[in-house]
Amino acid sequence: MPVEKKGSLEGQVIIITGGGTGLGSAMAFRLAEEGADIVVAARRLAPLEETAAGVRKRGRKALVVPTDVTDTGQVNRLIEKTLGEMGKIDVFINNAGIVRGDRPKTLWDITDQDWRVGIDVNLSGAFYCSRAVSKYFAERKSGKIILVASGEGFRGQRNSFMYNTAKAGVVNLTRVMALTLAEFNIRVNCIVPGFVDTYDLQPEATQKLMASTRATWRLFLPVGHMGKPDDIAYLALFLCSDASDYITGGYFVSDGGGLTGGFATTGYAPVVSLMEGLP
Ligand SMILES: NC(=O)c1ccc[n+]([C@@H]2O[C@H](COP(=O)([O-])OP(=O)(O)OC[C@H]3O[C@@H](n4cnc5c(N)ncnc54)[C@H](OP(=O)(O)O)[C@@H]3O)[C@@H](O)[C@H]2O)c1
Repeated sequence: MPVEKKGSLEGQVIIITGGGTGLGSAMAFRLAEEGADIVVAARRLAPLEETAAGVRKRGRKALVVPTDVTDTGQVNRLIEKTLGEMGKIDVFINNAGIVRGDRPKTLWDITDQDWRVGIDVNLSGAFYCSRAVSKYFAERKSGKIILVASGEGFRGQRNSFMYNTAKAGVVNLTRVMALTLAEFNIRVNCIVPGFVDTYDLQPEATQKLMASTRATWRLFLPVGHMGKPDDIAYLALFLCSDASDYITGGYFVSDGGGLTGGFATTGYAPVVSLMEGLP
């Protein structure tokens, strides 16, 4: 009996929020390589145009829709514009987030507005987008929604209130969405990246700032190095494709063993050798 071949994205239309930079652009390029047409959505036009150019260079169609995911009007327009110009949507990837947002402030300096923005972008945006696209998916009786959480959603970290709290919410949002939408043949899954080295993809100032962080974070990772954007992009490829059709409500950790090991940058932990002090 011939073995059925799965895993192709040929002809799929995939929306990626936060698609202009970092993991979003890496996913856009990988998924385009595998045959998907890509729609990128975020606030700044220039990075989105850059990703779109990279997608077109790979021979696929690209659409840029400037979108703030915290604004449901703009989110609805993203869906409408994509359907108008690309004709359909197969997968929606909720990747937008504020990665380096809240850490510099201590608890008593965090304003109500800081809290709202952190929760809005990292959690509510994923809800608004998933709610909007799932209506179309439910009518069509198929579709995939992918959310992007973080290892920080599974642990605490000193002063990182909005990010860690929102990312924990994203993991459970995945579960609730998955159970709500299963009857419509919609799959909902969550990617949990660990420390992924996107700094080469960041502006020069950020790169300089993060050079020492790179060296420190490596020490927390059992495999001995940070992840690469393509590690996450390949996981996205699996979750976008029909190879993952039987999976819903799951979270998939790609973090070099970081969570398994239980070590993390908590804001306190000293780096000590496990062998130290042994007789
Ligand atoms: N890199 C890592 O190590 C790592 C680890 C764990 C989880 N993650 C998660 O992976 C995702 C991508 O992170 P990254 O490392 O690639 O960081 P990044 O380069 O800063 O990407 C974040 C993207 O989100 C977009 N964005 C921010 N606010 C938005 C809003 N209100 N509406 C629409 N788009 C918005 C940004 O574009 P605009 O500013 O133009 O809107 C940007 O393109 C995030 O959800 C992050 O939490 C990353």
